[in-house]
Amino acid sequence: SASLIAFGLASTAASADPAGCDDGEMVIKFSHVVAATGHPKGDAANILSERVNKEMEGKACMQVFANSTLFDDDKVMEALLLGDVQLAAPSLSKFEAYTLKYRLFDLPFLFQDLDAVSRFTQSDTGKGLLTVMEDVGYTGLGYWSSGLKQFSADKPLLVPSDASGLKFRIQTSDVAEAMIEAMGGSAQKLAFKEVYGALQTGVVDGQENTWSNIYTQKFFEVQDGVTETNHQVLAYLLVTSTEWLNGLDPEIRDQFVKIAEEVTIAANDAVAETEMKNRQNIIDAGGTVRELTPEQREAWVSTMKPVWEKFTDDIGQENIDAAMAANA
Ligand code: LMR
Repeated sequence: SASLIAFGLASTAASADPAGCDDGEMVIKFSHVVAATGHPKGDAANILSERVNKEMEGKACMQVFANSTLFDDDKVMEALLLGDVQLAAPSLSKFEAYTLKYRLFDLPFLFQDLDAVSRFTQSDTGKGLLTVMEDVGYTGLGYWSSGLKQFSADKPLLVPSDASGLKFRIQTSDVAEAMIEAMGGSAQKLAFKEVYGALQTGVVDGQENTWSNIYTQKFFEVQDGVTETNHQVLAYLLVTSTEWLNGLDPEIRDQFVKIAEEVTIAANDAVAETEMKNRQNIIDAGGTVRELTPEQREAWVSTMKPVWEKFTDDIGQENIDAAMAANA
């Protein structure tokens, strides 16, 4: 019947644009660079938008743009200030232009595991660091962990000296650059969406990332193997424009911030499992994962840890101490 057809069309339209916004709803656009699903950030962004769209129906409406389809991580920071998007979650390695305090999170072998990262981000010091960019227009709503980082290259890496002479793609982080140089390699800063092509064509020889990024971006397919170094955390700042946040109706703001806080906790609790799944997915897809002996691991630690010293003044010794205290 006509009404069934009309119903069918309407539901098709609704599912093609699940966050179709109604008149009068405040639109919250969230732009990120990773896979839309099966990844800690992709999944967390979807859970956040589902909750906002259900619980704030009639008041707010969230649309998520994954896979760098809207902005990369450099552009998204400008877009937040311009009001082109309202939410983003770049890695904490990518805020060098706004604060040097987040260099803390890049210090190699700082956190012993993801639980330590959670304990730190929930501590007074961790929470205090959410607001260090307010003078330049940004407020952090929470930290989203994504996992520990692993190295991959076009040849086997078992000790840091295996990386000598190789070029590695890094995020826009001077700590990462210092780390690669300590290994005898050279570093090239590239946007996330360019990494696969750069590895494939040999513009760079290797990279460092989480299991979830290495699997969902298929980096393992164009690398000899992945070495389980767990050398650094990859975590994001769920970030918005301070002006936008402060301009919200207080009731709407409180509801939105509360949802964001709850989703942050749930998302962080799910990371370890997603990461282990994607580690296994790499192996199942024919990728090589290399584990380190305790002696090999010690070689990575002793090569990389000396870079801390270069960044202590930027970060503040008290922040480093608080992070170390989060290790059990
Ligand atoms: C990267 O650039 O490697 C990561 O920051 C990407 C991401 O958002 O996980």
